[in-house]
Amino acid sequence: MAQRGRSQLEKSETGPANIMTKIEAVIQNSKLEAVKTALQEIGVEGMTVLEVRGHGRQKGHTEVYRGREYSVDLIPKTKIEMVLADAMVDKTVQAILGAARTGKIGDGKIFLSRIDDAIRIRNDERGEGAL
Ligand SMILES: Nc1ncnc2c1ncn2[C@@H]1O[C@H](COP(=O)(O)OP(=O)(O)OP(=O)(O)O)[C@@H](O)[C@H]1O
Ligand SMILES: [Mg+2]
Repeated sequence: MAQRGRSQLEKSETGPANIMTKIEAVIQNSKLEAVKTALQEIGVEGMTVLEVRGHGRQKGHTEVYRGREYSVDLIPKTKIEMVLADAMVDKTVQAILGAARTGKIGDGKIFLSRIDDAIRIRNDERGEGAL
């Protein structure tokens, strides 16, 4: 009984659907349109796009942006955030890699993390149904 009680508690703590992943992709600004097109082709619906500044391991010093070398250490980049059903994650990562890679430094990075729940504000839909 104690065992069953604990598993029920765990279930309620993890919410209705512990089956979502957030992808945060930092890409070159010039690749946004190509990445958006690739994402549309595989059926990605919701996304948030942010204008960000950052640097990776070269600390920005040797990167070229719009044809000139940047003298500051934070270079303009684009970040795309998506929360996805897990079944979509692998093909989404492949789509981003295929559209965003130039093979040069500064191409960016993809981060994956777990999402416990989501809620559509309009109608209280939860979990994967809210995406
Ligand atoms: N560890 C990190 N945490 C958060 N953001 C990062 C991290 N690494 C890179 N970024 C973001 O990604 C952008 C592009 O990073 P970048 O592609 O230059 O990474 P890198 O590790 O230097 O790889 P490369 O050698 O291919 O340039 C950075 O400007 C920053 O916004
Ligand atoms: Mg770099």
